[in-house]
Amino acid sequence: MTTTTEQQQDQSAAVYLPHPRLVSPEGGRAKPWVSSMAEYEALYKESIAEPEQFWTRMATETLTWDRPFRHVTHGSLKNGDVAWFPDGRLNVAYNCVDRWALADPDRVAFVYEADEPGKATRVTYKELQEQVCSLANVLAAFGLRKGETVAIYMPMIPEAAVAMLACARLGLVHTVVFAGFSSASLAERVADARARVVITADEGLRGGRPIRTKAIVDEALQSCPEVEHVLVFRRTGSEGVPFSAPRDVWWHEAVAAQRPYCPPVEVSAEDPLFLLYTSGSTGKPKGVVHTSGGYLLGAALTLKYVFDIHEGDVFCCTADIGWITGHSYVVYGPLALGATSVIFESVPTYPDASRYWRLVEEHRITQFYTAPTAIRALRRHGDDFVTRCDLSSLRVIGSVGEPINPDAWTWYSEVVGGGRCAVVDTYWQTETGSHVITPLPGATPAKPGSATFPFFGVELAILDPTSGAELEGNDVSGVLAIKRPWPSMARTIAGDHKRFLDTYLKPYPGYYFAGDGASRDADGYYWIRGRVDDVINVSGHRMSTAEVESALICHPAVAESAVVGAPDEVTGQSICAFVTLKDSYTATDALTAELVKEVRTRIGPIATPKTLILVDELPKTRSGKIIRRILRKVVAGEADQLGDLSTLSDQSILEVLVNKVTAAL
Ligand code: WTA
Repeated sequence: MTTTTEQQQDQSAAVYLPHPRLVSPEGGRAKPWVSSMAEYEALYKESIAEPEQFWTRMATETLTWDRPFRHVTHGSLKNGDVAWFPDGRLNVAYNCVDRWALADPDRVAFVYEADEPGKATRVTYKELQEQVCSLANVLAAFGLRKGETVAIYMPMIPEAAVAMLACARLGLVHTVVFAGFSSASLAERVADARARVVITADEGLRGGRPIRTKAIVDEALQSCPEVEHVLVFRRTGSEGVPFSAPRDVWWHEAVAAQRPYCPPVEVSAEDPLFLLYTSGSTGKPKGVVHTSGGYLLGAALTLKYVFDIHEGDVFCCTADIGWITGHSYVVYGPLALGATSVIFESVPTYPDASRYWRLVEEHRITQFYTAPTAIRALRRHGDDFVTRCDLSSLRVIGSVGEPINPDAWTWYSEVVGGGRCAVVDTYWQTETGSHVITPLPGATPAKPGSATFPFFGVELAILDPTSGAELEGNDVSGVLAIKRPWPSMARTIAGDHKRFLDTYLKPYPGYYFAGDGASRDADGYYWIRGRVDDVINVSGHRMSTAEVESALICHPAVAESAVVGAPDEVTGQSICAFVTLKDSYTATDALTAELVKEVRTRIGPIATPKTLILVDELPKTRSGKIIRRILRKVVAGEADQLGDLSTLSDQSILEVLVNKVTAAL
């Protein structure tokens, strides 16, 4: 704690003013949407003091409504019955595709940067409209009707976005499952979402390596008998991909038989657009529900203001569509603004560490959005990989997913941004749908490491974690909460509204509880300190400790396990697992490796423990509860700051534990 506070005081000295190139652009380029703090403050104030007026204007200017709304907001955080624009009706695919296809058919919707370098292709809005319509007709022919759920398990290819939009066109709810998840994780999500159709590809390709996407789907579906159809896009065309008609249907054959127009189905603003599973404090992932109206508005508006999107801009977000960042900032935000969005299928180091920067150069990317883990990893490869590329097209560069340390921030700003770009450190969550704390590029003086100030309509609070009292004024630390509903907030958890209330709205009644610690410094800037629950953030991916522990327990040798996050220079945190074995098993390196593999195959590569330590005993209270706090401290190298140990039943295990950790890390 002390170190963080000291660092923060140092950091508050470094303030980066918006670059004049952004505030007063030359060469006839448009001024930023918000070009001073005074303008930001005026708009923010209006959004809080006159929310009906503010949101009516924003929702009317940004989206096209089939039936205009008469009511702006409904419900409260206290009751958990929030709704936005409840009597308005619209279609998300119409808003994202048709509006631009009709007005400017040749405008590029997607630039697709395939895994193989030098093979980029483009999809215009007109082509996108035809593809979305044909696919929507295929889904309708499967008998799918408004409100049903479709699972999508696909590589980062334009067809993944086409699949999402085809669902939206029919009022179907999609649930995209990150294609790095294992068959068991996929099965769990398909079953929970009650999907009857899965859309996938034959194979994926990442960094030149094929991924057996369809085979994984087949494994998953062994335990999902309710799935009637699997629609398979041919990505690699490899031989020997398992395929069993009539359940399996080739995408290219099915769309060829359909008319490339399909009327959009009008839905309520409150009808769900998608479910997205995310990890929480307990083992079972939760299907966070986002709506059609409020979510789309949030994604579009934040992108417009935070990345300052203007006509002709080429926006690139490197997140996978399996995560919320891919939903909001690869697909829905850019398309709702009629912008051009880059779909990046590869990895940042293939064929070398210049890949991102060549991408920027080749496509004249104007805004680039990635995660601190990628920034830190690429920085290790040296500046040459960056500086050999022409990055002069960039104006705004963004960071998301975890706190960005000031060093990485400065490198990003100076080396990638050439000291001429705005860096936007955007804080948000799957549940918030879009940015909630973020700078605006033409307005906000940045402090490296701080996400700065709230977005429009977001009223923040810092609460005392124990009493729940709101900490007023500046220079305060506690847990982060939001005081009033905002349009893109999640409405519920699929099939479990009680869990939604218990997780987000009941811990501090009247507030949305974000699960992160935060402070507000002397100048009112917000600093996110990381999760206060049992969620680990590895490379910006959320993983619950309980999920990893449940996977370990499946192995016959494991008696007990405890998983904590360890600080990691590149990935932010890494997964560190402590395991005790059943009596009949002996600790060997081979067994350690087997246990690591167990987690990898059960959940997916992103859950692979970086460190797995076999111990004789875990630190426990007298009543037998594992004290994870001790493990967290030990792996953080803070064994000398363990605090009150009076509840620990056997203090003698500490020394052994510390020695084992020191040897392993
Ligand atoms: C963390 C990703 C600090 C935070 C969009 C949050 C951040 C969790 C930032 C949500 C940031 C995200 N600074 N921490 N700029 N952005 N986080 O749901 O702990 O995958 O609660 O959404 O990531 O992760 P999720």
